[in-house]
Amino acid sequence: MKIGIIGPGKIAERFANACRSVENVTVYAVASSNRERAKRFADKHQIPHAFDRYEAVWQMQELDAVYIASINSQHYAAAKACLEAGKAVLCEKPMCVNLAQTKALLDTARQRGVLLMEAMWTATLPCIQQAAEWIRAGRIGAVSFLDCCFSFFYPKEEGGRLFVPQLGGGSLLDVGVYCMAFSLLMMGERPTSVKSCLQIGDTGVDEMGAALLQFEAGAVASCSFGVQGEAPADAHIYGSQGQIRMKEFYCCRRVELCDTAGQVVEVLEDSEEDGFVHEIRAFAHAFDTGKQEAKGASHQLTLDCAWLMEEIARGGANRSR
Ligand SMILES: NC(=O)c1ccc[n+]([C@@H]2O[C@H](COP(=O)([O-])OP(=O)(O)OC[C@H]3O[C@@H](n4cnc5c(N)ncnc54)[C@H](OP(=O)(O)O)[C@@H]3O)[C@@H](O)[C@H]2O)c1
Repeated sequence: MKIGIIGPGKIAERFANACRSVENVTVYAVASSNRERAKRFADKHQIPHAFDRYEAVWQMQELDAVYIASINSQHYAAAKACLEAGKAVLCEKPMCVNLAQTKALLDTARQRGVLLMEAMWTATLPCIQQAAEWIRAGRIGAVSFLDCCFSFFYPKEEGGRLFVPQLGGGSLLDVGVYCMAFSLLMMGERPTSVKSCLQIGDTGVDEMGAALLQFEAGAVASCSFGVQGEAPADAHIYGSQGQIRMKEFYCCRRVELCDTAGQVVEVLEDSEEDGFVHEIRAFAHAFDTGKQEAKGASHQLTLDCAWLMEEIARGGANRSR
């Protein structure tokens, strides 16, 4: 699969490095709004083609797929153009900045019969998939409670896009999305009730937030997220017959199944150092087998996440004094 990159920034660096570990995937082109940036990135990663216009990527005959790694507010237009040109799309999370755009993009992919995947790499990790399987198999009994957190401290003066509302900034879209995807994957359904609070900072984006989700069978999930405070990204799921524990759930490499007393019963460890490799493999496998969705990061998950984030954003937003 020959793939082109749009938006050669920080995350595109990691992606290009991870592609080297995936068989049959070649980064073949890169496009940036800045000619020098495209050229530098291409030289560093030995990419044969560098462009200073995004259109050049979706117009390039030899390309099979495009990885969209530009800022959140630019995903929709770029992904739509790629899909309409028949290119498979791997789009960074969150796929779009709102539910309406997300629905429209998924519809375009379906109508055109083209592969579209949100780069929700957490959903492609073996440890995450194992945890979901344990829950489905009843290994922890009826789930009663789930908690997860993803928060770091990013200095505002260096934060760039993160603190600009028009660029799709804010903690919910940046890291809250992982908590939402995780909760949805573990519970296997949309919550029936959503309560939330968001702390809006002086630049107008949510800097911290929390959400309480309640599910049909009575289970409750507590999710917290932020870009103005460091916190351990641990997750726990408690059930009537056991528990599941993981550290750094969004990039989890070890998951523990425990009994109700917290004694470890079973463990899965992932030897892959860079979780992006799982995501790229899932995308490439879907492409090679003619699928329109990739394993793990399904269209339904993307849609449910976008819906949930809108519900949370609609909940109480407090401005800082
Ligand atoms: N999967 C993950 O673990 C992960 C982690 C971090 C971020 N992300 C996601 O990846 C995407 C990119 O994040 P990043 O941290 O890599 O971003 P970044 O380095 O700040 O920027 C990526 C690209 O976006 C464009 N850009 C940056 N600032 C812009 C601005 N002010 N106005 C217009 N365009 C701008 C630039 O494209 P040009 O070169 O074309 O100008 C830049 O190369 C986001 O959607 C983010 O949510 C994913």
